[in-house]
Amino acid sequence: MRARSLAGMLAIVAAPIAVPQASAAAQIPDHFENLQVLPKDISRDSLVAVMDGFTRALGVRCGFCHVQEPGGRQLLFKSDDKPEKRNARFMLRMVDSLNDAVLVNLPMRADPPVSVTCVTCHRGLMRPVTLNAVLAATVQRAGVDSAIAQYRSLRENAYEGKYDFSEATVDELAQQLGAAGKTAEAIQLLQMNQEFYPKSAQIDVLLGDLHKQRGERDAAITSYRMALEKQPRNRQARQRLTELGVTPPPAPAGPPGRPPVR
Ligand code: HEC
Ligand code: HEC
Repeated sequence: MRARSLAGMLAIVAAPIAVPQASAAAQIPDHFENLQVLPKDISRDSLVAVMDGFTRALGVRCGFCHVQEPGGRQLLFKSDDKPEKRNARFMLRMVDSLNDAVLVNLPMRADPPVSVTCVTCHRGLMRPVTLNAVLAATVQRAGVDSAIAQYRSLRENAYEGKYDFSEATVDELAQQLGAAGKTAEAIQLLQMNQEFYPKSAQIDVLLGDLHKQRGERDAAITSYRMALEKQPRNRQARQRLTELGVTPPPAPAGPPGRPPVR
C-alpha cells in the first residue's frame, strides 16, 4: 500500500527536475528522525523530491512547514512545532487513504487510474479555495467594489492556473448572489465580467434575468436584445423576450442556438 502510493507521488513530483532552494538543500541530513508517514528508509533524493513537490503544489517555501532554529537561520526539519507541518502530515495520510482505500472502490476506474496528489486540490495555493469562494467571501465581508478590485488584481498578477478566470466563475457567483437577493451586487459583477468577455451572450441573458427579478422590465428587454445581437439564435433570450410579451426578431436560418453552458 505504502510503497505504491509513494511511487505514485514520486512519479508526479519528480517529473520536472527537483531543485530545492539551495540554502535549504545544504541543510538536509542523510537520514531522518521523525518520519511518521513516509517510509523511514526513504532515500535523501526521494525525500527531497517529495518535499519539493509540496512547495510547488502549495506555492510555498520549506519554511512554511518547517520551523526555524531559534536565533539562527537553519530549519529544524525533524521538529513538529509548526502546525502547518502537522497539517501537511494529516494531508499526506488523507491523500494515501483517498488513493489506497477510497478510489480503489470506484465502480468504473479509469485505466490507467488517476491518483489524487497535493496539486490536484492545491494548484499552487496554500489554501485550496476557488476564485468563486474568494470573491463571495469578499462581497460578504467588504462589499462588491472590493470584490471587483480583488478580481482585477488577482487577474493582473498572473494567478492563472491557481484560480479559474474563465467566464463561468463570475457568472456563477452572480447567479448565487441573485438567488440570495443581492441583485445589485450581481449586476455589478456581471458588468465587470463583460469587460473581459465582451462577446458573451450568456452574460446578457443573466443581466436580463437580474433586471427582470428587480422588476426593471425595460432594462431586462434591452439585455435580452443585446444577447440576440451577439448570438441571434440564443434560445434563452428568445424565450425570455416572449415571456415578457416582446416578439423576438426573426431567427436566422440554421440549427437552433446552443443553449448557454450552465
Ligand atoms: C507543506 C508542508 C511542507 C513543506 C513545504 C516542506 N515540508 Fe518537509 N516535511 C513535511 C512533513 C509533513 C514531513 C514529515 C513527513 C512524515 O512524517 O512522514 C516533512 C519531513 C521533512 C524532512 C525529514 C525530517 C526528519 O528528520 O524527520 C526533511 C529533511 C524535510 N522535510 C525537508 C524539507 C525541505 C528541504 C523542504 C523544501 C524543499 C520541505 N521539507 C518542505 C512537510 C513539508
Ligand atoms: C482533496 C483535496 C486536497 C488534497 C489532495 C490535499 N489538500 Fe491540503 N488542504 C485541502 C483543504 C480543503 C485545506 C484547507 C482546510 C481548512 O483549513 O479548512 C487544506 C489545507 C492544507 C494545509 C494547511 C494550510 C494552512 O494554511 O495552514 C496544508 C499544509 C496542506 N493542505 C498540505 C497538503 C499537502 C502537502 C498535500 C499533499 C500530500 C495536500 N495538502 C493535499 C485540500 C487538499
